[in-house]
Amino acid sequence: MIYNFDEVIDRYHTESSKWDNVGVRVGNGDALPMWVADTDFPCAVPIVDAVKKRAEHPLFGYSYVVPDFFRVTKAWVARRYNWEIESEWIVYATGIVPVFNTMIQAFTDLGDEVIIQRPVYHPIAHAIEDNNRVISDNKLIYRNGQYSIDFEDLEKRASSEKAKIMIISSPHNPVGRVWTKEELTKIAEICLKHHVILISDEIHGDLILFGNKHYSVAALDEKYAQITVTCYAPSKTFNIAGLRASGIVVPNPDIRDGLQKQFARNRSIQQNVFALPAYIAAYTECDDYLEQLIPYLEDNIRFLTQYIHTNMPKIKVVPQEGMFLTWLDCTEMGIVGDELADFFIHEAGVAINRGDMFSPDAHNFVRINIGCPRSTLQKGLDLIRHTYSKKFD
Ligand SMILES: Cc1ncc(COP(=O)(O)O)c(C=O)c1O
Repeated sequence: MIYNFDEVIDRYHTESSKWDNVGVRVGNGDALPMWVADTDFPCAVPIVDAVKKRAEHPLFGYSYVVPDFFRVTKAWVARRYNWEIESEWIVYATGIVPVFNTMIQAFTDLGDEVIIQRPVYHPIAHAIEDNNRVISDNKLIYRNGQYSIDFEDLEKRASSEKAKIMIISSPHNPVGRVWTKEELTKIAEICLKHHVILISDEIHGDLILFGNKHYSVAALDEKYAQITVTCYAPSKTFNIAGLRASGIVVPNPDIRDGLQKQFARNRSIQQNVFALPAYIAAYTECDDYLEQLIPYLEDNIRFLTQYIHTNMPKIKVVPQEGMFLTWLDCTEMGIVGDELADFFIHEAGVAINRGDMFSPDAHNFVRINIGCPRSTLQKGLDLIRHTYSKKFD
């Protein structure tokens, strides 16, 4: 099937967090939404068909996790990530964020440390703080416009008696890195040595661009698999985050048991009736969608990079290896925090995510969502350029 990602679809009045809630959440209801991490592309046709088919049956009582969920997850992970897993390792979750919270509750005590790598997807830090645990920030190194991992610092942090869990974002939201096999191996070795459980959030793992390769850290070695909780989901890949279905792979029976028991204690495991039909269709019938999406995203990033380079040289596009979220270094604009957010959201009228959501000191960055038709991207960039010209040209 051929998908037309250029098609602009009106998303207002669909209870969309990105479109309908932009006024409440970012303070300018007229701003063009380029923030929340879903795309403006309709999802693949087989997913819509599966949801419609289920909707035709007029009973929406409780459902259970059908065997097909395990079968299709196993096949997807083997096919896409080259990892042969067992069905019994797979745990259904209503999302990846609940896994952070649940794992922290199950495997750490009050005051324990959880290692993260900021700037990073903000609910990871919230999960730690909301549970009264301590953030141990293995800050990413930013040098010459490139991000890398400070392994010396990581080793120190992991060796702390109180460090129990490390959460990685792989590929990394928001900085756009797709971690290499070598980087993942070093992380896993450090966690292994210091008995730290590794949560690998791979929600963006299908969206790998420009010839980069994604590795599931757990697939690299059986001993890494034994300490790792790998979080997969079709949510970003096929734009179905609102349906709430993800597959969590936990080979170690003790970790799996701890996760499942905590889920049960929280009563947070019941899926909605549309989640699994959509998930199963996504992982079995939609490869053609993904194959067409990747080059479209690559072209969007090329377009944005060229546009910004030519018209707004004080903004630097951080090289992006995966995802549909682009990290912009605005240091040379000379404004930060509220002032920088005002520039984009109120003056230009483009709703971005402010960098300091992801790390307090990333107040000179913003994250922009390029998962949209090219004309929407152009519209957003034109709006930003208009304000930029008044200020800087
Ligand atoms: C890195 C990352 N993890 C997790 C999520 C959200 O996970 P879920 O909606 O499955 O809870 C997002 C959404 O933006 C994300 O970017």
